[in-house]
Amino acid sequence: MMRMIAAMDARGGLATDAGIPWTLPTDQKFFVETTRSGLILMGFGTYVEFRSPMHGRTNYVATRRTSSLKSGFVRVPDAAEFICNHADETINNIGGAELFRSTLSLADELVLTRIDADFHCTKFFPPFEQGFRLVTESHPIEENGVRFTFQTWRPHRAR
Ligand SMILES: NC(=O)c1ccc[n+]([C@@H]2O[C@H](COP(=O)([O-])OP(=O)(O)OC[C@H]3O[C@@H](n4cnc5c(N)ncnc54)[C@H](OP(=O)(O)O)[C@@H]3O)[C@@H](O)[C@H]2O)c1
Repeated sequence: MMRMIAAMDARGGLATDAGIPWTLPTDQKFFVETTRSGLILMGFGTYVEFRSPMHGRTNYVATRRTSSLKSGFVRVPDAAEFICNHADETINNIGGAELFRSTLSLADELVLTRIDADFHCTKFFPPFEQGFRLVTESHPIEENGVRFTFQTWRPHRAR
């Protein structure tokens, strides 16, 4: 199964050109816990922001370029094929925007942090509400003057 883990602002924004614009320690902790088990898949644009692989284990990087990656990262030339070939495992798809957009149709679950503010992002999560239903939502949390909730969405149709 493949799940997407994303934090987005009120307009679905994921990042500005400078990266993720908010600092929310509770969300960071949630992200680390949620990705603790299973494979980790990220796009090349997200990979460049990592110095080392998450959780000290192999992380998979969707990229069509053939140049070598930093130690601990393994190249995935076709993300959709990788997801289909690992259907028996849990894949944590951690983005970014382009990888989310290109693999949304393969997602079995969306684990979303919904931030109630506008951070003037330039990169966005793809539209998803039509194909998915909300199954859980946490109580609102307030941190650094920002309110957010954790949500889980599942596709209308099983994949
Ligand atoms: N708020 C959040 O939850 C969140 C989560 C993750 C990332 N981010 C932020 O988002 C930004 C990065 O997003 P981004 O859209 O620029 O980049 P990205 O999605 O991380 O990476 C895009 C690159 O991934 C590769 N790629 C994408 N889809 C592919 C597929 N189906 N098969 C093979 N390769 C594929 C391509 O690499 P090549 O060009 O090398 O072929 C593409 O250029 C960063 O600032 C990061 O901090 C935010």
